[in-house]
Amino acid sequence: MKAQTIVDIKNLSFYYNQQLVLEDITLQIPKGAFIGLVGPNGSGKSTLLKCILGLLKPSEGSIRLFEKPFKEFSEWYKIGYVSQKANSFNTGFPATVFEVVSTGLVSKKGLFKRINHQDRKKIIDAIESVGMGDFQRRNIGELSGGQQQRVFIARALVSEPEFLILDEPTVGVDAKTVQNFYQMLGHINKEKNITLLLVTHDVGTITDKVSHVACLNRHLHFHGDTLEFSNQKDRLSEFYDHHVHVLTHDHGGCDKC
Ligand SMILES: Nc1ncnc2c1ncn2[C@@H]1O[C@H](COP(=O)(O)OP(=O)(O)O)[C@@H](O)[C@H]1O
Ligand SMILES: [Mg+2]
Repeated sequence: MKAQTIVDIKNLSFYYNQQLVLEDITLQIPKGAFIGLVGPNGSGKSTLLKCILGLLKPSEGSIRLFEKPFKEFSEWYKIGYVSQKANSFNTGFPATVFEVVSTGLVSKKGLFKRINHQDRKKIIDAIESVGMGDFQRRNIGELSGGQQQRVFIARALVSEPEFLILDEPTVGVDAKTVQNFYQMLGHINKEKNITLLLVTHDVGTITDKVSHVACLNRHLHFHGDTLEFSNQKDRLSEFYDHHVHVLTHDHGGCDKC
């Protein structure tokens, strides 16, 4: 049986005023995928996410979500989003990890509804699934940037989304922590069967963690599974000539990614 298509983007273009930022993007994300969307700064990654989330309206083309035309889609609780700005959190904010994660239930429960036993279980489960079980009572401001980012992911997970979008969650996080972080995401993808769209400007760190890669630089320069991605490096080199270089022996790709 064919997997459900979570996101189906066809011939999407987007302009900010007169500036063409996304051009003729066609991209499908099947259920269960862990897709890495890579591209340099300013390549349109966040803009594409905002189109998917309905925060920006594409100038041309169409988006289907969970196999419904965009206008008919209303099950937004199925989609979790951790924005690029999440890690610039006010570190003086007086809230514990548990409290921050519990706010992820607000949209479902309304702000002043009390947390019941079942909610508490969901909150603890979300905190544990990002490896922060020992930090529940800690103040969010006392955590490192990488730990805070895990807490924001737990907050997105607590409402049990089927599809989670993360915009550059590892900016400012050191290399070893980044690897652990991706491992944690791989676990969420497989164990919880959550489809993941991870945005990063660094292709080198993700190719052995994700199932699919999409290289964006206004155009979508490549989209396929990780095996195709490493096999494509020669063709990409030929096709894009001097714009392309092979990053390492292990990781194919182009300098546009
Ligand atoms: N609100 C905005 N108004 C005008 N231009 C914007 C706005 N946001 C982003 N841009 C421009 O659109 C391009 C793509 O930006 P963005 O999607 O944020 O790229 P990325 O996330 O890959 O770094 C950049 O040239 C950026 O300057
Ligand atoms: Mg961005």
